[in-house]
Amino acid sequence: MNISQHDNQGFWSSRLLFVLAVTGATVGLGNIWRFPYMVSEYGGGLFILVYLFFIALIGIPVLMAEIMLGRMGRHSPITGLRIIAEQNGLSRHWQNLGWMATIAGLLILSFYSVIAGWSIAFIFRMAAGVFDNVSAQGVSAIFGRLVGDPEKLLAWHTLFMMLVYVAVSRGLHAGLERTVKILMPALFLVLLLLLAYAIYSGHFTAGVQYMFSSPTEHLDSARGLGFAVLAAMGQAFFTLSLGAGAIMAYAAYLPRSVSIAGVAVTIVLLDTVIAITAGMIIFPLIFANDLGSVSFSNGLDARYGPGLVFQTLPLAFGQMPGGALFGSLFFVLLVLAAWTSAIALMEPSVAYLTERWAMKRRKAAKTISVIAWLIGLGTIFSFNIWSDYRPLSEIAIFSDKTTYHLLDFLASNILLPLSGLLIIFFAGWKLSWKTTEDELSMGKEYCGYAAWRIVARYITPLLLIIVFIYSLSKALGRLAFP
Ligand code: TRP
Repeated sequence: MNISQHDNQGFWSSRLLFVLAVTGATVGLGNIWRFPYMVSEYGGGLFILVYLFFIALIGIPVLMAEIMLGRMGRHSPITGLRIIAEQNGLSRHWQNLGWMATIAGLLILSFYSVIAGWSIAFIFRMAAGVFDNVSAQGVSAIFGRLVGDPEKLLAWHTLFMMLVYVAVSRGLHAGLERTVKILMPALFLVLLLLLAYAIYSGHFTAGVQYMFSSPTEHLDSARGLGFAVLAAMGQAFFTLSLGAGAIMAYAAYLPRSVSIAGVAVTIVLLDTVIAITAGMIIFPLIFANDLGSVSFSNGLDARYGPGLVFQTLPLAFGQMPGGALFGSLFFVLLVLAAWTSAIALMEPSVAYLTERWAMKRRKAAKTISVIAWLIGLGTIFSFNIWSDYRPLSEIAIFSDKTTYHLLDFLASNILLPLSGLLIIFFAGWKLSWKTTEDELSMGKEYCGYAAWRIVARYITPLLLIIVFIYSLSKALGRLAFP
């Protein structure tokens, strides 16, 4: 069985570059923005423990399955899954799984680019000292002026999408590899600089203690333990970029000599360490400035919610020596992380256009950029001119959701877990022991393979079904957890 890799892109130049590229895909807004605020909302040390449990039992097996399927198919997720299905005597409808994952990736890209655009805007605002000694109300006003202005958001969204286009259009070696080769070391460097700053200027021990403390300090009465457990599962799934075809698309260029279990574990460790490091930067800075009780004028509890990075943190930096410099570095970090993730979000659909419609890579990347850019307009307008518009107002459960919320909901809560579940089902139940054992190249490590298969067949699907039911029940507003 010798299928040539698609698009004549060749293979990753080294195992290291593959690991860097997938780490770039997984490390994003999810690590630096979402993880820290989830920790503070859902219970510190216990949340982290449960999160690590799901990383191990969902993250590693599904990541291995996606890498395996990507390398077996050697094409975009859509074509690749069709080829694997045909070779194994299965229905070619499995290609629809590829479609679902690819569309989920495209939808995520559309709003990811808008939020990444905010981050670019914040680099300049921080560097210009806009936040120096500003009050909490002042910070909210600055944030409000940015998201309230469609023209500004449009400009930053366009700029970010162009950055992604440039990398993807140049193909595997001149585009993807070159970009991650520069961006990932830069990301590690900035992360370490910020960690040093947090240790030096922040209340490091207090911040870290808070992060790993017992849940009673964090869990306010509204959020029970069951809720926290399920949120940890969702976060594990999101942070590893599972279910969007991105990992499969990257693994299509992976040489057969590489051991899948080894790279999967390395990637998961890197992603987890970076998320925890982000928390160890953010919390000490917030504690150093005594922002435990600050309140913001826009009514959001920005203290430890989604406003953590775009409101509380700028407020902290604004009061610290060197805050303008390190504050802008922080947003540089966020943009670097988002950039390498967005490249991965674009790759599956671009690869599909090049093989299915024989498009030149540049044209394919242009087409997908324009489509994602256009969908992104919905997110932009959700924060200003459409902020009162509720597209599905007739449906009770969606009646308060803006266009952006609906997009995010559809992609993150429905399409991602569903394709993750189908991927692990396909790999664990539809493909034979021999096929998967060969591809995972664990022929010698009999125990390791057996462990993967048992987890992939029973434990992971079960956990994923729980996530899925949770997402839906949360959407339906009928969450019965205490
Ligand atoms: N993991 C990314 C982050 O933490 C977000 C993400 C979800 C993603 N699904 C993806 C990135 C698919 C690339 C591909 O920010």
